[in-house]
This record gives sequence, C-alpha cells and structure tokens, in this order.
Amino acid sequence: MNYIETHPRKVRGGSVHKTIRDKKEERPVKARAKQQLRQKKVSNTSSNLNERKTVEETYLSPDVSNFVEANDVNETKKRIKLWLKTGYPVHLIGPTGCGKTSLAMHVAKEMNRPVVWINGDESITTTDLIGGYSQIEQESLRDQYVHNVFKSKDILKADWVDNPLALACKYGYTLIYNEFSRTKPAANNILLSVFEEKILELPTKFGEDRYIKVHPDFKAILTSNSIEYAGVHRPQDALLDRLVTIYMDYYSFDTEVSIVNAHTGVPDNDARRIVSVVRSLREKLPDTQKPGTRACIMIGEGLKALNGQGRMNFEQICIDVMATKTRSSMELIEKQTFVKEAIEALA
Ligand SMILES: Nc1ncnc2c1ncn2[C@@H]1O[C@H](COP(=O)(O)OP(=O)(O)OP(=O)(O)O)[C@@H](O)[C@H]1O
Ligand SMILES: [Mg+2]
Repeated sequence: MNYIETHPRKVRGGSVHKTIRDKKEERPVKARAKQQLRQKKVSNTSSNLNERKTVEETYLSPDVSNFVEANDVNETKKRIKLWLKTGYPVHLIGPTGCGKTSLAMHVAKEMNRPVVWINGDESITTTDLIGGYSQIEQESLRDQYVHNVFKSKDILKADWVDNPLALACKYGYTLIYNEFSRTKPAANNILLSVFEEKILELPTKFGEDRYIKVHPDFKAILTSNSIEYAGVHRPQDALLDRLVTIYMDYYSFDTEVSIVNAHTGVPDNDARRIVSVVRSLREKLPDTQKPGTRACIMIGEGLKALNGQGRMNFEQICIDVMATKTRSSMELIEKQTFVKEAIEALA
C-alpha cells in the first residue's frame, strides 16, 4: 500500500516531518557531503605531508661545497662513521673554525638519509627540539533538525607539528645538532632517553601518542666548541656519557692549503703563504683568539679580490681578518707585529 501524505505540516515554510519525497531529494545532497568529507580527509593527509616537507626544508642542513677529503679529514670521518654505524651518537669537539660543522654535514650527507639540522643557543627549548601544537582549530556544529531543539557542538582540535628531533626519531633521519652545548642543559634532557632507551617522550602529549620509538636509521652528530665549552652551559655528565666524543684540532698545513685552494682558487704559493701566517699567529695567540681555517679562507678571498697588488696589502688583509677579536689598541699593535714577523719569516 502506498504511503499517502495526508498531513504535510509546515512551520515557517519548511516541512516539519520529512516525507519519502523529501528524503529522496536529500540523498544526492548527503552523497555530495560524504564525498566532500572524503576529499577533506585526503587533503588533510596531503596537508600533513606538506607540513612535514616544510618542517624538513626549514631544518634541512646547509650544503657543504668545496669539501676537501685529505688524509686527516678522512681519518676523522672514518671514526665518526664507525660510531654512527654502531648506533652511538657522535659528539665533535674542537677549537673555533677547525672544521667541525663542515665535517658533520659531510658525514651526515653520506649516511644517505635526509638530514635535519638545529643550531643550539641560549633560547632553545625542548619544544624547539621536538615540536608542539602550532594552532588550535575550532569546529562548530549547529543542528536544528527538530524545529524546537537546537543542538550545538564545539570541537577544539590542536595541530601538532614535529620539529627536527621528533622528525629524525620518527623517520630515521640524521640529526645534526650544531653547538649543542650553547643550549641550556635542561632543554637537552629529552635526548637522554632517545640515546639510551631509544624512546622519545613528547611531554605535552597523552596516551600512546606520548612515546615515539626511535627509528633504527636515526643517527645524531653533535658539535661543540672546546673554547666555549667551559664558559657556556656545561652539558650534563649523563648526556656526555651517552655520546662518543671525538676531539678535533686544526687540520695539517697541507690540508689547510688545499681548503684555501678549493674555496678561493688562489695559486698554490699564495695559499701556502696565507696558511703559514695564520698558523704562526695560532702559535702566539691565546686559545680564544686563535684564527681558524675560516680566517685562511677569508684572507684568500681578500687576496683574490686584490688581484696581485703587492706585499703591503697582503699584510693589511691579514691584519683585518685576524684582528677580529681584538679588544684594545695594545692587542692590535701586538697582532700587527706578529703578522709582520710571520710575513718576514716567509721571505
Ligand atoms: N674538509 C673541508 N673542506 C673544505 N672546507 C672546509 C673543510 N673543513 C672546514 N672547511 C672550511 O673551513 C671553515 C671553517 O669550518 P667549520 O665552519 O666547519 O668550522 P667549525 O669548527 O664548525 O667552526 P666554529 O667553531 O666557528 O663553528 C668553513 O669555511 C669551511 O667551509
Ligand atoms: Mg661550527
């Protein structure tokens, strides 16, 4: 028997009770809504992927160009790789400008996994390392299915964004934590369980989301400056205990010459002169003022720009580059004398 609408009640122009016809008409609308919901879910996953890509790009380590693989560089490289292979994080420590960061980046790239990078400093917090809630999304539902009943629901959804440590632990990336000892030790506590128990705990999350099992491909290279070491925040012994520490020093004379050549393209005899002067000053100056390989490269760049215009200018370039950390005119005069003596010794 067919259903006959006998009493189609309407309130303010709309049907109160839905008829079969009403319901049939509604079907395509519901199907469309379902389809939209499905699309939204797909775009959510792709927006997650995009988000991950953005974070990876943000923390991606800079490129190492003109890397020189001399014998002493390769020696240290082999040691780093050995410890990374055994699953230990490696800590490179050495004086300013001896090549710690370049070597860390070079080895990390050779691990053939994506590399994420973070630079330690005073203001870094655990959230900067692991991530946090980036934004709160509010979803409101207002339902008046029955004319005199108003249903309202507000859902607050927090969006979590992973930072380098969480990304590296989750997906097995190589993490470079440059100058990690500049970060306050409390912020680095999160690393203890990552290195020992291979678990990353996200303190602001609840339930099973709180723990991330560290991916077997996860690797970490940390660097710190031996000169700053005592002055900045001394890392907690518990953390140092979990790292393999490799002490670095300035590379050999020949390696530094090759590095200057590779970066600046100055002729070999100019590169030799530069490295000799820099090394001579290294012997005479206190630890905090010793010029590193970076100074050799800077002098090389200056010399190249000069385009062979005499001895006096070479002297001036050396002084300009190496007087960076000079605090008094006495110190400057002393450095000028050291540079002059070093140049005269070359003749
Ligand atoms: N093996 C190498 N090949 C080519 N260039 C190098 C190499 N090692 C170091 N350098 C260059 O020497 C300079 C100093 O190196 P780097 O920045 O790695 O030193 P660092 O020890 O990290 O210094 P800092 O203590 O200031 O952070 C950089 O310009 C870098 O490009
Ligand atoms: Mg560095």
